[in-house]
Amino acid sequence: MKKILVIHGPNLNLLGEREPAIYGRVSLKNINEELKKISRKVKVTLTIKQSNYEGEIVDLIAKGRNKYQGLLINPAAYTHTSVAIRDAILASGIPTVEVHLSNICCREEFRHKSLVSPVARGTIMGFGLKSYTLGLAALIDLL
Ligand code: DQA
Repeated sequence: MKKILVIHGPNLNLLGEREPAIYGRVSLKNINEELKKISRKVKVTLTIKQSNYEGEIVDLIAKGRNKYQGLLINPAAYTHTSVAIRDAILASGIPTVEVHLSNICCREEFRHKSLVSPVARGTIMGFGLKSYTLGLAALIDLL
């Protein structure tokens, strides 16, 4: 059975309450339940983590390199700043799909650049919860 690591970055634990006009009312629990439903149907195993700490995310990716066949990640604010997460993805060699709830290209200029996109197989953004389900489907397809 293929194993996929799902990482939610900083502040995504607050989804549902946080800036609902941008991120909607869906909670992280709802997102995780939807992802689990898909994984049960297609028989992949998901390990789901959320962290507000850059170093912890780097460790999760590095430790996962011989364990997971795919990585689904919403690096959240670290998307725009973290060379360390970008390098960890590259070093791990794990096929990665980047997702964002919002369309980062339509928001403040500092969000337009993703340091992660160049090391991801693809990026899905702007569809809320659907960014995650589409991202997982794309990742499963890749494996
Ligand atoms: C986000 C977009 C980021 O710019 C922001 O910092 C987030 C969430 C998204 O899913 O739309 O925390 O990654």
